[in-house]
Amino acid sequence: MSSVPRTLEGARVLVGVGGGIAAYKTAHLVRGLVGSGADVRVLPTAASLEFVGAATWEALSHHRVLTSVFEDVEEVAHVRYGQEADLVVIAPATADLLARMRIGRADDLLTASLLVTRAPVVVAPAMHTEMWEHPSTLENVRELRERGITVLEPAVGRLTGPDSGPGRLPEPEALLESARAAIAAPRDQRGGVLRDLVGRELLITAGGTREDLDPVRFLANHSSGLQGWALAHAALVRGARVRLAAASVDLETPPGASRLDVRSAGELADAVAEHRGRVDALVMAAAVADFTAAERAGEKIKKDDADEDSVPRIALRRTEDILRSSVLDRGDAAGPAIVGFAAETGGNGSSALELARDKARRKGADLLVFNDITAGVFGSSHNAVRILDRQGQEIAEAAGSKTAVAHAVLDELTSVLPPVSWSA
Ligand code: CTP
Repeated sequence: MSSVPRTLEGARVLVGVGGGIAAYKTAHLVRGLVGSGADVRVLPTAASLEFVGAATWEALSHHRVLTSVFEDVEEVAHVRYGQEADLVVIAPATADLLARMRIGRADDLLTASLLVTRAPVVVAPAMHTEMWEHPSTLENVRELRERGITVLEPAVGRLTGPDSGPGRLPEPEALLESARAAIAAPRDQRGGVLRDLVGRELLITAGGTREDLDPVRFLANHSSGLQGWALAHAALVRGARVRLAAASVDLETPPGASRLDVRSAGELADAVAEHRGRVDALVMAAAVADFTAAERAGEKIKKDDADEDSVPRIALRRTEDILRSSVLDRGDAAGPAIVGFAAETGGNGSSALELARDKARRKGADLLVFNDITAGVFGSSHNAVRILDRQGQEIAEAAGSKTAVAHAVLDELTSVLPPVSWSA
């Protein structure tokens, strides 16, 4: 088992396609998986071929496409594909496919492969709201989740007809991130994703705040939101509910996360203050401005053409330290676990690590995730961190994709979470 791939690069991925109109979006997902280095085999149900034909899947995956257990029988495909898979992604999963999965049917190559595989399975349902909310479907989803299958929440929005509601297939970019999170996740005894965050709610801040100076200019920073997003995807596949406070993030919302878009440090502080009393963990991955304009100019700040040397003086004031005030707000009472981040360059005679240790002790968060940003982390898909406790002691380190780092942070988070019932 030691050589099981933990990234999409080189992984064998089965993509099951159910018979729904959203199957056309899965073509982009297959492209994304192949682009990430995965060896993809597409297993469409017979009904799905009414929507997207086998030629599309063969061209995108570079493999022949089979649907029935009676094709290429000498290859025993119905056993081999499932055995060899490192990850299975089903998109879209129809109500019928969920029902067949739940009762363990093996009437086509996809469902037969699902009975064989021991790899993580990620399912993205898409159907009309009435079907999604039908007690049979809800029961099937509950049961599949209990067995360790990651059933993503459908997105809410416009459906195929004039109706709208929950039931849309999440965008392919978001599904690709869910796949990345699932393959990198810790495993349960059967080889599926360990669902150690079921019943937990996390508030994750992500991105970088913007402080307006005048109607056209603002102070900002380089944060892309990718690390916060990776944390959200990782927590979701491990079973958590996730609230995302997103500061200027231009990424597809992770399936099932409830997202609140904010702009300034002040707006982020308000969002955190509103929700931190109800969650099990506050994960402050956002890069928050330490200074904002003392007064935002109502009109565009002009340069003085008569005096070429003159520059405007912009007065700044400090913003609230949200991490620190969240620690103080919790005090000695039970409350959410609090995770801070420290992006350091070193300076004034101190190394980046020394500064981070000092920050861990000053801020009082349960965990501080430190990275040395001289290595160039902004906008990159990779990161290297050390995780410190509140005394500044190093308790873990992680390097690799931001997804791998996210799981390492969650691994440590599980040991500092409050009792399950703390906010009930
Ligand atoms: N943070 C916060 N509120 C702020 C600034 C930062 O909650 N106004 C949080 C960040 O989300 C991060 C942690 O504090 O989790 C550390 O952020 P960083 O910018 O490294 O720390 P600063 O407090 O700004 O410390 P310094 O300026 O001394 O580096």
